[in-house]
Amino acid sequence: MIATYTDAEAAALYDVLNPSGPDDDFYLDLVRDAGAVLDVGCGTGRLLGSAREAGHSGRLCGVDPDPAMLAVARRRDDIEWFLGTAESLRFVGEFDLAVMTSHAFQCLVRDHDVRASLAAIRRSLVDGGRFAFETRNPLARAWEEWHGSVLDAVDATGRRVRVSYDVEAVEDDVVTLTETTSSADGTPLRVDRASLRFLDAEELDTFLSDAAFDVEARYGGWRREPLAPESTELVTVARCVGGGEVPGR
Ligand SMILES: C[S@@+](CC[C@H](N)C(=O)[O-])C[C@H]1O[C@@H](n2cnc3c(N)ncnc32)[C@H](O)[C@@H]1O
Repeated sequence: MIATYTDAEAAALYDVLNPSGPDDDFYLDLVRDAGAVLDVGCGTGRLLGSAREAGHSGRLCGVDPDPAMLAVARRRDDIEWFLGTAESLRFVGEFDLAVMTSHAFQCLVRDHDVRASLAAIRRSLVDGGRFAFETRNPLARAWEEWHGSVLDAVDATGRRVRVSYDVEAVEDDVVTLTETTSSADGTPLRVDRASLRFLDAEELDTFLSDAAFDVEARYGGWRREPLAPESTELVTVARCVGGGEVPGR
């Protein structure tokens, strides 16, 4: 029989591999101050779940295109969940804050994906609303450390697994990598492939400005460290500007 690891198991493993850290604190601060919040690429819904636990009583809404990730999120019924991509958002002027956390923005690989997603996020926000997200600084070349890296973990059912990463290709600013989940004895159970785009700060700002966002703050980390050439993160807080023409509105 061929060994497998289901989408549901992989989604549950995601939370084991990605425990909370300073990024959660950064975003929770912003969420606390916003009445209505949209989490784009919400995955298993960790951030909004934590916000509700912390007493947020306003509208919380998460959107993700991965049904298995969203199935984990849907265990909570005090938050709205929608299956879909950033580009597919159909909200108009409903949220004070949108976030894309854990580098979800880097899943937007083609120019069209970035533009259409930013336009839909902008449309979802009230005038003056904010969009916060982070991307990895291309100057730090994170992918060079990923290749061949291995993590041992115990999954949600108590099973020991090994997760390894290989970079398949680096083409312009797009890095394609595989994540292989194996059993403890090394038997491969599943391979997931992803492509991530590494935009620099200037390119990000051009996309944001074209979508009617102003960059309100840019940090080199979630503790609001100043951005430096060697920063590993580009943490961006953008604000909707102008009552002018918003693409697709
Ligand atoms: C690294 S996970 C981050 C999940 C979550 N934001 C967190 O902090 O745990 C990236 C997420 O982005 C989602 N994603 C991929 N492409 C997307 C798109 N075009 N629009 C919105 N989300 C997308 C994936 O399904 C995945 O759940």
